[in-house]
Amino acid sequence: MRRLEQIYEGKAKRVYRTDDPQLYVVEYKDDATAFNGLKKGQIADKGIYNNRISSVVFQLLSKHGIKTHFVKQLSDREMLVKSLRIIPLEVVARNIAAGSLAKRVGLEEGTPMSQTVLEFYYKRDDLGDPLVNDYHIRALNLATPQQLEALARMALDTNRTLTDFLRRCGLLLVDFKLEFGLHGDEILLGDEISPDTCRLWDTTTQEKLDKDRFRRDLGGVEQAYQEVWRRVSEAK
Ligand code: TMP
Ligand code: ASP
Repeated sequence: MRRLEQIYEGKAKRVYRTDDPQLYVVEYKDDATAFNGLKKGQIADKGIYNNRISSVVFQLLSKHGIKTHFVKQLSDREMLVKSLRIIPLEVVARNIAAGSLAKRVGLEEGTPMSQTVLEFYYKRDDLGDPLVNDYHIRALNLATPQQLEALARMALDTNRTLTDFLRRCGLLLVDFKLEFGLHGDEILLGDEISPDTCRLWDTTTQEKLDKDRFRRDLGGVEQAYQEVWRRVSEAK
């Protein structure tokens, strides 16, 4: 397998074609953005930790029957994945109120939800990724009803598996964001699962160990990513 030209550059990753049309290489960068790119920065070695953490999580999820794009970790910053046509939705699952949900419905951050909340956002940077519901998704043809059902089921399965694993790491899975894509006609979980895309709080102290340290200028950003990797690597 040979890495060929770059086909996409996002805020935190680059994607490359390979000599196998079924496979892409994802390269994890240290770049960090927040508020739809308004805040920019770098988190030293974030790309390395996110690649490692995502690799462990994708392997855990496949062991539990959740189909993902992960093939293998290639290097410090590179992951081999199955090629996907991304479904233009961000699927967010929430167990504890935080961030935009806490604000939208007037709950104090840290309030446990009586059941998991699933949300869909339309992946459109130019619109700031608006919240959409089933009707918008069907009317805009963003996903078929069957695909939408599969996304919800896969997100809830991921939530259960990841919550249990992270509990063993002394981490609360507050909320997280997933992206999915089509490989042929199969729906696979794509993108990454890392402290960039999850809210992770220490179970006993509730200390934030995720990208909110960068978003909210809390300090100790690099240390938080390292600490998540330390705990994940010990529990895997
Ligand atoms: P929110 O509370 O800001 O809507 O974020 C919900 C979850 O989604 C949180 O775990 C962070 C993650 N997230 C992303 O991965 N990318 C994004 O662009 C945003 C806004 C949130
Ligand atoms: N995706 C967001 C951005 O646009 C970052 C975030 O809040 O995670 O910059």
